[in-house]
Amino acid sequence: MEIQEVFGLYEGDLKRVERYLEDQQQSYIQLIPEIANHIIQSGGKRLRPLLLLIASDLCGYEGKRRYSLASVMEFIHTASLLHDDVIDRADMRRGKDAANRVWGNSASVLVGDYLYSKAFKMLADDEDPAVQKLLSTTTTTMVEGEISQLVRSCSIEITEKEYLSVIERKTAVLISASCAIGAILAGAPESDIEALARFGMRLGMAFQLTDDALDYVASEKEFGKTIGKDLTEGKVTLPLIGAYKKSSPEEKELIRKTVEGKNVLNDDIAGVIAVINKYEGIGYTLDMADRFIKEGKAFIGPFKDSTPKDAFLAIADYVVERRL
Ligand code: IPE
Ligand code: IPE
Ligand code: MG
Ligand code: MG
Repeated sequence: MEIQEVFGLYEGDLKRVERYLEDQQQSYIQLIPEIANHIIQSGGKRLRPLLLLIASDLCGYEGKRRYSLASVMEFIHTASLLHDDVIDRADMRRGKDAANRVWGNSASVLVGDYLYSKAFKMLADDEDPAVQKLLSTTTTTMVEGEISQLVRSCSIEITEKEYLSVIERKTAVLISASCAIGAILAGAPESDIEALARFGMRLGMAFQLTDDALDYVASEKEFGKTIGKDLTEGKVTLPLIGAYKKSSPEEKELIRKTVEGKNVLNDDIAGVIAVINKYEGIGYTLDMADRFIKEGKAFIGPFKDSTPKDAFLAIADYVVERRL
């Protein structure tokens, strides 16, 4: 199955999710829907809602709760993007000016808080302690991930292990929860919930690894975000960690100086990118993403053959092939 087919199969369900997103961000404070709409209406792949829908389908749940819970996943994701763009001083998100560029940091942070709160209100209304517990742990972990990134990722001393731990927390846990919740909704056996959580975790790792590779090599128009932003912001990700290990003392010095942001010249940025290319930092990152996808698929294997199972396998392939 191709990825377009997956989106086609779930088009009707995703439209219902869109309606929730639209209805739930309304507020009498005009600035809230103004900013929320700006980011929500500018696209976004809706990967997390889609995963929840497929997981519930795979485990045999067809009730309405999947729409509100799929929207909860997208609200949490959107809130984290609003906050992330303030932290990363992003210029562009989903092909448009980032909200922080248009309305400033304070407004972005507060509307992010609003969307988080709204998500938890929807969770309270849903009244399922298992889902509430999973998502409160998930969001706590996500923030811990962003904070450990803040503390560690602007240093070339960061180890590959630490980097992997950051991306697991900031990105993979939410993708994992999206898969697990679909199974929880269906009242699936614990072993199935666990298998989907593990599949989602590997998918999430591969997703962020690909994002970190695309940050260097994507086309800005397709990706909808500024290219080369991680390096100019001094954020050390796997393409650089992989290349650094293999580089000469002079190359290491150039990388260190550039990451630390001391007297950085355009030539230095170009120099570091040349070092990444020389030691195949992008290939190294994408190979690791491939390995996570392979591991993830193995958790889906035991489920009996079905359309949602094929959809999951297609998403797994898409995550490492994507350009946006
Ligand atoms: C961006 O997520 C943040 C990362 C975890 C890399 P997506 O790539 O899913 O963003 P949208 O929702 O499609 O814009
Ligand atoms: C993912 O990290 C951010 C979140 C999990 C919120 P990035 O900083 O790489 O994401 P982008 O590239 O800004 O989308
Ligand atoms: Mg960012
Ligand atoms: Mg990125």
